[in-house]
Amino acid sequence: MARVNTPDFWERLYAAGGDGWELGGPALPLVDFVQATPPPRGRVAVPGCGRGHDARFLAAHGYDVTAFDFSTAAVTAARALALRDGVRVDVEQVDVFTLAGERTNAFDGVWEYTCLCAIDPARRREYVDVLRAIVRPGGWLLACIFPLRAQTAGPPFKVSQAEVRRLLAPAFRIERAFPPLRSARGRQGREWMVFARRTG
Ligand SMILES: C[S@@+](CC[C@H](N)C(=O)[O-])C[C@H]1O[C@@H](n2cnc3c(N)ncnc32)[C@H](O)[C@@H]1O
Repeated sequence: MARVNTPDFWERLYAAGGDGWELGGPALPLVDFVQATPPPRGRVAVPGCGRGHDARFLAAHGYDVTAFDFSTAAVTAARALALRDGVRVDVEQVDVFTLAGERTNAFDGVWEYTCLCAIDPARRREYVDVLRAIVRPGGWLLACIFPLRAQTAGPPFKVSQAEVRRLLAPAFRIERAFPPLRSARGRQGREWMVFARRTG
C-alpha cells in the first residue's frame, strides 16, 4: 500500500495514460451542488486536485481556490488549464499530509473528491485530521465519497458511508448527506455527497 504514498506511483500512471479517473471536466455532483445550494464563498482547498477541473469550476464560481497535488504531471496540467481558461487557481505541488502545520485554519472550505480513495486506507484518519486542521472552525467540508463499492483492488480504495461517518466525527458535523442525482458514467450508484461543518 505504501506505493500510493509516493508521487512516483501517480507520476507513472499519468505518464502511461493510466489515469482512469480523468473526467475531462468538473465532477457532476459538484456542479449540481454548487448550482443548487452554493456553499459560502471564501478560501477553498482542493486536495489531490489532479488536472484541476473541479478547482477551476469553483474558481469560476467565485471561490478563492488553492489546489494541491504532489504529482508534477498533475500540477503542470492544472496550471496550464487554469491559464488557458483565464481562471485564478493557486496550484501547489505538495503532499497533502504536510499541510496541517503550515495551513492551520487557512481555509473556509474544502472540496474532497477522489483524494480520500487514492490515499493508503490506513492513513484516512490522518487525512481527516489534516482537513480538520486546515479548515477554520465553522468552515465547511463538501465531499463526494467514491467508490462505495469496489471494482478493483484499488486505488480507488472502497469507502463506506459508515466509515465516513466515523472518520468525520467529532471534528465535522454532517448537515446533509445524499446520493448525487448525476454521476459520471460508471460511477452511478457508487457516490455519496456529504456537506459537513467543522465543529469548534
Ligand atoms: C485519483 S486522482 C484524482 C484527481 C482529481 N481529484 C480528479 O478527480 O480528477 C488522485 C490524485 O491525488 C494525488 N495524490 C494522491 N496522494 C496524494 C498526496 N498524499 N498528496 C498530494 N496529492 C496526492 C495524485 O497525484 C492524483 O493526482
